[in-house]
Amino acid sequence: MIRRPRRNRQSETIRRLAQETTLSTDDLIFPLFVTEGTNKAVEVSSMPGIYRYSPDLLLKEIESCLKLGIKTFDIFPQLEESKKDKYATESYNSDGLYLRTIREIKEKLPEATIMTDVAMDPYSSDGHDGIVKDGKILNDETLVVLGKMALAQARAGADIIGPSDMMDGRVGYIRETLDDEGFTNVAIMSYSAKYASAFYGPFRDALDSAPKFGDKKTYQMNPANRREALIEAELDYAEGADFLMVKPAFSYLDIIQTLNENFPIPIAAYNVSGEYAMIKAAAQNGWLDGERAMLEMLVSIKRAGAKIILTYFAKEFALLQK
Ligand code: PBG
Repeated sequence: MIRRPRRNRQSETIRRLAQETTLSTDDLIFPLFVTEGTNKAVEVSSMPGIYRYSPDLLLKEIESCLKLGIKTFDIFPQLEESKKDKYATESYNSDGLYLRTIREIKEKLPEATIMTDVAMDPYSSDGHDGIVKDGKILNDETLVVLGKMALAQARAGADIIGPSDMMDGRVGYIRETLDDEGFTNVAIMSYSAKYASAFYGPFRDALDSAPKFGDKKTYQMNPANRREALIEAELDYAEGADFLMVKPAFSYLDIIQTLNENFPIPIAAYNVSGEYAMIKAAAQNGWLDGERAMLEMLVSIKRAGAKIILTYFAKEFALLQK
């Protein structure tokens, strides 16, 4: 045999020389949940190791992550039911929990890069990402709310805006709104191919944001479709998105690969709550080696073509690098 592939696997050093994909904290975005109160950290029951933090403790958590080399954070708010309404008006209340917290992070920890989420669901009494009328989700009327939300987040200091709502035309609408107000340097990471997935379950527990009726299938994509992701990505690219995201990540590696091959901007993938929960649950039962499963999952997502990974494992990964 002239060609013996095992020669390149014979020692740790040679394996590392031959390794095609490496992962670093530079590639990761850590999603974090904020809730009202002080000195409060409540573990999300379906996401062991992940907490809803009051703003003071959230700041401490970000500070400790910065020391470990994680620099970008995607913040999500959990609101009391009393703050929710049909039009998500709390989402652009500059004195509200979310915008207050973003401002405080940017003031006290300016080295942290902050991504914000644009979608109505955490603020909506219907639990949907858009305005509901007669059981339908209104597209163009929702854009107006999303524009106000994105602008308020930019004013609070957001570096990257993340529209996760899947309304048509929202990237262009948000880009224009931001530019008109002088926020030309605020980036957009668009949830381009976001699928109607069962893997968001634990996240909706964390935020109490599950839809009050029906599902999200009229706006999020059908998990059976790959080519349709190209339409979504083309629109977002043309409308000015700086990053294209695929979500979820692990069951959608082919979508990540397709977008990476077709678009010359960085591709991100969201390693969602259900993907985290599966590994944690199996590890707690002794059914999987949690640490190895995490590393394999993350490197597979990167290998498929995601330059950036949003993951609840970010801190755990960073701790292993020390
Ligand atoms: C809301 C939003 C969701 C997630 C991120 N932003 C849930 C949903 O669309 O229902 C899911 C994240 C996760 O599961 O980790 N627009």
